[in-house]
Amino acid sequence: MEKQRLDKFISSQLNMTRSEARSAIRTGKVTVNGLYCRDSGLAVNTQADIICFEGTEIEYKKYIYIMINKPKGVLSASNDKTRQTVVDLVPDDLKRNGLFPVGRLDRDTTGLLIITDDGAFAHDIISPKKFIPKSYIATLDGTVTKDMVEIFRKGVILADGTKCKPAILEPIEENRARLILFEGKYHEVKRMFGTVNLGVNELHRESIGELHLPEDLGSGECVEMNKKLLILAQKSTAYTF
Ligand code: URA
Repeated sequence: MEKQRLDKFISSQLNMTRSEARSAIRTGKVTVNGLYCRDSGLAVNTQADIICFEGTEIEYKKYIYIMINKPKGVLSASNDKTRQTVVDLVPDDLKRNGLFPVGRLDRDTTGLLIITDDGAFAHDIISPKKFIPKSYIATLDGTVTKDMVEIFRKGVILADGTKCKPAILEPIEENRARLILFEGKYHEVKRMFGTVNLGVNELHRESIGELHLPEDLGSGECVEMNKKLLILAQKSTAYTF
C-alpha cells in the first residue's frame, strides 16, 4: 500500500505545481472517496482511494512512458531557454512534472525516443550492461563495404581512442545502412562512420529493444506506452559477434 500526501498526488498526476494543487484542494475541486477534502496533507492510498478532480476520477500512474517520433531540429532535453525540446511536444494530457528523454538523439536525428519520469527504467534502457539494441538507419555519403561490416563487428576504435562495443552494420542500399548498437556514446553513430570516412547525412532511430517506431506515428507525435510496449523496449538480444 502506497500512501502519499493529497497535494503531492494531485500535482504529480495532473501536472500542477504543488501550490496549484493546494489551491485546487482548498477551493473544493477535489474529493476523496466521494467526500470533499480540503486538507492538502491528508495521506491517501494511491491504489485504493478514489480521488476525483472536478468530478472526474484520477487514474493513478506512478510513472508515465511516452513514445515520440522525434522531428529534426528539436532538442533531446527536458527544457531549454530558447529552443524547442521533445518534452515541449508532449501533449497536455500526458504531461507531468519530471519528464525527461531516455538517452539523447542529436538535434538533427529523427525517430524513436522514449520520454518518462521513471529514472530506473531509463537507466536500464541506456545501460550497456543490459544489451538492449538500438537500431538506426543512416543515410551516408558513400557505400558500406564488407570490410567496414567486419570492423564494426569487432568494435570500432574512435578517433580519440575510445573503444566501442561490437555493433551490427547491415548495408541496405548504395547510400543507406542499418546500424545496431548496444550502447550510447556521444554522437556514436556519426563518430563510428567517421572512422571509415563515411559522413552521415541523415540519421533515424527505428527501434529500441523490440519496440519499433509505429508507422502511423507522425513526426512530432507522441503516444503513451502500455505494459506490452514497455516489455518490448526492455528486450535484450543475445547476439554472438
Ligand atoms: N549517434 C549519433 O551520432 N547521433 C544520434 O543522434 C544517436 C546516435
